[in-house]
Amino acid sequence: MRDERLFVDFAGVTLPSPIGVGAIATFMGSSIPDEDVAKILLKSAEAGAGYINVGALCSLPEDYVKRKKREVASEEWQQIIRKHFGGRPVRRWMKDGEGCFLHRLGALTPYGIPIEGFAKSLELKMPIIKMLMEKKPEDVPLIANIEAAGDPESFAIASRRAEEAGFDMIEINVSCPFFATVSGNVKAFLDGKFIFSNMGAIMGDSPEFLEEVVKEVVKEVSIPVGVKLTPETGFPRVVEIARRVKKAGASFISTANMGVTIPPPDIYNRGKTTLPFTDGNPFIGYGGEPLRPIVRKHVAAISMFVPELDILAMGGLMNAEHIIQVIMLGAKATGQCAAIFFKGIRYLKAELEFIRKFMEEQGYNSIEEMRSVGVKELRMADEAVDIAAKASIDENKCTLCKTCVDNICAALYVENNKVKVSERCIGCGLCVIVCPAKAIKLVPA
Ligand SMILES: Cc1cc2nc3c(=O)[nH]c(=O)nc-3n(C[C@H](O)[C@H](O)[C@H](O)COP(=O)(O)O)c2cc1C
Ligand code: SF4
Ligand code: SF4
Repeated sequence: MRDERLFVDFAGVTLPSPIGVGAIATFMGSSIPDEDVAKILLKSAEAGAGYINVGALCSLPEDYVKRKKREVASEEWQQIIRKHFGGRPVRRWMKDGEGCFLHRLGALTPYGIPIEGFAKSLELKMPIIKMLMEKKPEDVPLIANIEAAGDPESFAIASRRAEEAGFDMIEINVSCPFFATVSGNVKAFLDGKFIFSNMGAIMGDSPEFLEEVVKEVVKEVSIPVGVKLTPETGFPRVVEIARRVKKAGASFISTANMGVTIPPPDIYNRGKTTLPFTDGNPFIGYGGEPLRPIVRKHVAAISMFVPELDILAMGGLMNAEHIIQVIMLGAKATGQCAAIFFKGIRYLKAELEFIRKFMEEQGYNSIEEMRSVGVKELRMADEAVDIAAKASIDENKCTLCKTCVDNICAALYVENNKVKVSERCIGCGLCVIVCPAKAIKLVPA
């Protein structure tokens, strides 16, 4: 039995709940077999997910790829791809602090050695897609995450084929961190040109190019189209990007994909990488906790400046409270990967239970009501009103560790073995956040 209070109207499609699993690419021969991904996705729908997203789908006719390759692929570029990936899919994980994963995925591009595998991933995954269509609950829409080549036409072709295959929505993936950090792509970007290669996050952070991609895709399909952003896009550039994709006909934005980073060097081993079983320290993707502030920024900026676009927020949403937070900033739907990796699919069910109970307790009758209440509170930096406050110290809790005094604030001092607050206190709250004993709070000035 569905709980209608959790329904959301997302880009004109009704989702039975605002949560789901973000796109997870699988490539032939990688460590997560496609069948298992299908089972995982079905399990997520059973647990209450409001949509199913099938990651990294591409579909380009062979003659098209051959033609493009002849037209634009330099021998130099093909050599780079061979050198870097050698046709063998690479997947490696490590943890970088609580709730943060680093992930290396040896990308296969339309020029990569198993070119057929990538350019035909939609066709190759059809058995799995059919299984999803047959077994998923009828009211759970299927989103095709389209990852094509470095030209708008390829996205249009692949999107049309995804619609023909029965998908309900298109999510244009122009935000892969792996493609963005391939040396050939970085060189092309620095040379100021796009090449017929998937350039990942470089494409997603290039407003003109992105606008063209969306225009071409929207022309080709009749289902809702959205764009998955990269967390590499900053503020206020994200607003420009949102405006352009809206103008080009997109109805939603998903934010965000993994970001780009590099593993910490092993300082006790001459700077070698800490990424296991890897020689050389490579740029890789990261997800989880550190993405959350970036995603909040994207969501709030888009909902303030381009409110006509629906938002699917993801990146560092580790629990139901994080989900509610981004909804209150303007997201209509949400996605999670890191939380699912660390806590399992069953966690979705617990989160939905939490959200249901939360809505009851707080008196919200719908997700939309919760969303609009939060959005009303959004302000630019100069528009929020500061309420005068000052620090107050609970002497019973203070352990006299002196962290707050031995800091950057000149308003705190020790007198008779007690921490005191002088008149110079401006109520900034730094001492509150640094006190290990939670002995300081702000009170009205
Ligand atoms: C193994 C793996 C594969 C992914 N594949 C895709 C993909 O194919 N398409 C996509 O748009 N995002 C992909 N992502 C990004 C996630 O959907 C998500 O945006 C990202 O992990 C941030 O969310 P999180 O912090 O909850 O993990 C992938 C992430 C991981 C870890
Ligand atoms: S940081 Fe907290 S516990 Fe330490 S001296 Fe300041 S008030 Fe006391
Ligand atoms: S609130 Fe700010 S100014 Fe006041 S005592 Fe604490 S750190 Fe200093």
